[in-house]
This record gives sequence, structure tokens and C-alpha cells, in this order.
Amino acid sequence: MTASSAEWVIRNSVDAAVEEFCARLEQRLTQARAAAGPLAVALTGGSTARAFYSGWAACYRDRRSAVWQPQALEFYWSDERIVPADDPDSNYRLARETLLEPAAIPAALIHRVPTEQPEPAARYADLIRERVPAGAVGRPQFPILILGMGADGHTASLFPHTDILLQDQALVRRAAGTPDHPHDRVTFTPALLNAAREVWFLISGATKADAVLAVYQRQASARQIPALVVDPSQTAVTYFVAGDAAARLPPRPSPR
Ligand code: 6PG
Repeated sequence: MTASSAEWVIRNSVDAAVEEFCARLEQRLTQARAAAGPLAVALTGGSTARAFYSGWAACYRDRRSAVWQPQALEFYWSDERIVPADDPDSNYRLARETLLEPAAIPAALIHRVPTEQPEPAARYADLIRERVPAGAVGRPQFPILILGMGADGHTASLFPHTDILLQDQALVRRAAGTPDHPHDRVTFTPALLNAAREVWFLISGATKADAVLAVYQRQASARQIPALVVDPSQTAVTYFVAGDAAARLPPRPSPR
């Protein structure tokens, strides 16, 4: 399990990283066209995700290929703050404003976390079990699962030095917020993340450079750098790293 078994897409800017992201997503949609029904994708939150979603919405608008149909993808969330759906801190609201509404995605293909319900984590796990077909490991297998990464190495709402990193069989858990990351949350567990066919990390910002290097080297523990719970020997991992977030990586062929 080394960095080399993951793929690193390093670009000088977020725009250039978004361009490659869209090209790969278009490729997956083209490959999936024979399959029945929309491709399930799990979204995340954060400012990097926001930038990627705006570029993603343009793919539908510019109709760069026939695959960009509103019914091509079905949307879930790998983590959500337990706030109302129209709260400014809602990851659902972020995606609705930047991607889902601009791309006119049908409501039937949008499965937000029911944060207004009791036991939202258990309810969401039930919905995912019901709708997302299981993969070889017997857990729901998202074709593409999108994650961000914080400067502390957190991903989804798996924060450093917390017990939620325990490798248990639950698919979705409630996570306590932290002083830096307010609100209690609902998050996918490592078991569900690693059951995905592909995990795509979207990472930007100079403050991430140390955590990016730690993920590249894979020597720290997942308790220190939770993004390390995503295991390239279990799922196909691609790190889209933009700009200064890649500043500490070893020299590589010049990023475009
Ligand atoms: C959340 C996000 C979180 C985010 C990272 C990166 O709900 O807080 O899902 O995991 O993806 O914090 O966010 P930035 O890209 O804004 O640094």
C-alpha cells in the first residue's frame, strides 16, 4: 500500500484540475452509458468542492458531450452537517446552489441526508443500502465517491484522534463537530469509503501541503491523518491536487 498505487493528478490551478476532473467524469459516463440507470456519486463539502462543482455544472451547460444529461448521475453525500437543508453550512445547499440547480438535476436523483429527522445517520445508511448496489465486499459500492481533505488531514467528517476512525462495519455514523469544524455531522465510515469503486480527492490551498505530503508518503497513522483511512489496496484512489497544495510533493513531470 504505497502512494504509487494511487493516482496523483497535480495541476497548477484549480481550473486546470477541474478540467481534468470533468474529462475523467465524462469518460466514466461514456463507459457507463451501457449500464442501466444513473451512476451514483457521493459529494462532499468545502470550498474546494464548491470550485469543482461550479466547473462541473458548466459541463452540463456547455453540453461538451451527449453524456452530460441531467439524468446521467444520482447524488448522495459522504458527509453532512446536521443543520437544516437551507442552512448556509449545509453541504447539500452548497451542491444545490453550485451544481444541482444549474444542471437541472431531477429531484428524484438527489438523496440528501435527512438532517431534520431523528437518527439521520441510521436512516441514511438504510437509504444507501436500499439504493446503491453492493460490491464484491458486500457493502454498497459507490462508482465514484468524492472527498475533500482539511489541513489537519481530515476527510468527510472523520477528524483526527477520534474513535470514529475505528474500523467497524457501520456504513454511516454520527460524528461530533470540533471547535474548528462546527456542528455535529453524519459521515460515511472507512468501511463505506473503501467499498467504493473509485475515491476522488479534491484538494487545494497552501495550508494542505503538509497533509498532502503525509498522504503521499503514507507513513503517518490514520488517527493522525484520517485521509489515510482511504486505502488504495481496497479502492481506486485519485488525488486531484491543485496549486500550492502540492508544494511539498517531490518533483514530478511538470503539472499542466
Ligand atoms: C465538511 C467537508 C470537509 C471538507 C474539507 C476540505 O463537511 O466539512 O466535507 O470534509 O471536504 O474540510 O474543505 P476545503 O476544501 O474547504 O478546505
